[in-house]
Amino acid sequence: MSTIRSHALIVFLFFCGCGSASPKPLPTIPPPSPALSTDERAAILVAAMTQDEKLRLIHGTGEVLSAVPRGAAGHVPGIPRMGFPSLYLVDGSVGIGNTTGESTALPSAMASAATWDLDLAYQYGVVLGKDMRAHGVNVHLGGNVNLAGREPRTGRAFETKGEDPILAGRINAAHLLGTRDQNVVTCIKHFALNDQETGRELVNVVIDERAARETDLLAFEIGIKDADVQAVMAGYNSVRGAWCSESESLLTGVLKQDWAFPGFVVSDWFGTHSCGHAAMAGLDMEMPGSTHFSGMKAALEAGEVTQSRLDDMVHRIVRAVFAVGLYDRPTSPGTVDASANLAVAQAVAEQGAVLLKNIGDLPLPPGLGSIAIIGPNADIGVVSGGGSAGVTPMGGSALVEVSGFVGSWFPVRWLPSSPLAAIRAKAPGATVRFHDGSSASDAASLAAASDVAIVFATQWSSESLDRPALNLTDLVHRSSPLDQDELIRAVAAANGHTIVVLEGPGAQSMPWLSGVSAVLAAWYPGQRGAEAIANILFGDVNPSGKLPITFPKTHLDLPRVLIAGSSTPFDVLYDEGLRTGYKWFDAQGIEPLFPFGFGLSYTTFVIANPTVSLGGGNQLSVTVDLANTGTRTGAEVVQVYLSMPASLGEPPRRLVGWQKVTLPPGANTQVTIRVDGNSSAHPLGYWDEAARAWAIAPGDYGVYVGNSSRNASLAGTFRL
Ligand code: GLC
Repeated sequence: MSTIRSHALIVFLFFCGCGSASPKPLPTIPPPSPALSTDERAAILVAAMTQDEKLRLIHGTGEVLSAVPRGAAGHVPGIPRMGFPSLYLVDGSVGIGNTTGESTALPSAMASAATWDLDLAYQYGVVLGKDMRAHGVNVHLGGNVNLAGREPRTGRAFETKGEDPILAGRINAAHLLGTRDQNVVTCIKHFALNDQETGRELVNVVIDERAARETDLLAFEIGIKDADVQAVMAGYNSVRGAWCSESESLLTGVLKQDWAFPGFVVSDWFGTHSCGHAAMAGLDMEMPGSTHFSGMKAALEAGEVTQSRLDDMVHRIVRAVFAVGLYDRPTSPGTVDASANLAVAQAVAEQGAVLLKNIGDLPLPPGLGSIAIIGPNADIGVVSGGGSAGVTPMGGSALVEVSGFVGSWFPVRWLPSSPLAAIRAKAPGATVRFHDGSSASDAASLAAASDVAIVFATQWSSESLDRPALNLTDLVHRSSPLDQDELIRAVAAANGHTIVVLEGPGAQSMPWLSGVSAVLAAWYPGQRGAEAIANILFGDVNPSGKLPITFPKTHLDLPRVLIAGSSTPFDVLYDEGLRTGYKWFDAQGIEPLFPFGFGLSYTTFVIANPTVSLGGGNQLSVTVDLANTGTRTGAEVVQVYLSMPASLGEPPRRLVGWQKVTLPPGANTQVTIRVDGNSSAHPLGYWDEAARAWAIAPGDYGVYVGNSSRNASLAGTFRL
């Protein structure tokens, strides 16, 4: 073009505004009326978006974690002209983490499950949601409901809610609802069957559809249907040869069609493998950046992705923000409500601790002369789980160690709750001395010189690695590991009044059990854990927790003795199928160390006079008389199990309902547990593979009632 003409063109463009330095600003979209439905409101914004705005919403910015605004793990910039907030995606299942700063370090999710208390679990979720708002973040990456029964050695057991799909599903749903009611987006993860950490990005899970539907997927189904979840995180692993983040059968077939999930599927971090294929399979958002989704424009142009699919991806993300009330109540940084939240943390620790053995030393009597407190860091804190679920507690960590275990890059955090201080506060007249357990013989000498010895045994675990077995294994100090099993044996040999407090992620074997006087499973007890443990040890709190996961005698009793792993893609075959957790031990006739649902109290209860009735519409009702026959107030969890018609080939029995009841000494009450056969838990159902649907089989059903999976007697039968 000649110079003159080019000038003329520039002048012309300038006057028509086309040549101005910046393009005409896009119009501001007023907030869609709250009188409209969630989908209608979302549709208004999506219709007003440019293609570029849509393309920016379906992935994170990919900023380095330490640079992500507000300390989040993932960031999606908002669209101010339409009031669409930036999305800050933050972990995790046991507290608000990543680099957000100090938050309430709750007890582990396993501890919450061990309470069997759905109201308290809701409060657990409320704390998570309140802390999300306090940090100004708004998509909570909690809700880990992978079933720890598949692989109890999983490094993330502490983030899960145990082994049973109905207990885990309902506790998780309560967490999610509590969080959601703080007007932040909730997430359920890792969909699906991400049940081991070893080779999690290489493992291909092989399992039949019925087993998946009635176990791992059922825990998700309950959360999706009962907790208004708006985000599902796809797992790193493959299932039946398809990566979870691009599995059409999981993401579209099961999640969006069968379960009518209206929200969005987000990848795990760097857990994607394609653009067009993943999008068309059902992935809606890539995190933390756009490794593959940066190719979305090209995929659209090439016809690999349809515009309607892109609009659906965006719609699902936008509707989530409306669905939970985040659009109308955006978050901004504030302050953590520490006192209220820590009270919940302590209540969960107190209600979730499970008394497994007590031959008479608990509760500790007043007037003890001397107490030995033994165990690593038991003078300063309690241990917490590693990985993305790690939480910097209110007031800061008592200690942060670098884990020396190959494969885990996560720090070992000790929370500022000192067992030594808490015990001293309970026994002001006693001589309370501490030993860190580094020398079993020295610790034994201190125990021998004390009236009572309390060993705080700590089993650290973390995302990215699994435990090799189920006994106490030091995953932190590889160069000089501490053998706590040996430590406990030595202390117990020196003092017949040895109490073991377990601070662990989940299932635990105890080769020293016969030699100790008492065992309390305190899980990862959170940052009011020591205070909770001391209240229990001295009887100010009567323990009422029940195991949400079977404690095997040894890992050799598990379906897989070795955890499969490889540096190249490999299969893990879940051919135990439906027999996961206690169902494995029941079906195989293996005696566990402590069964699912088990937990002692300082009082005693009697469950009697059961009656069973089956009402219309598959409504099962079980009534019992419950009496507190002991000398102190306590709580019992009345559990209902069901045996299915033999024709189905199901494991011997399944948990279908429960109720936790507190009674004063000498009192009794009638307890009725209602089981809704049509609920999202499908308690009477089985997955009919031919019909690709849940069904209820004709035949004879047995109803069992008791206070653990191994202590439940036949209360009645019914025929369908
Ligand atoms: C991690 C975890 C996932 C977490 C995400 C963000 O790798 O698998 O649970 O939410 O990345 O930190």
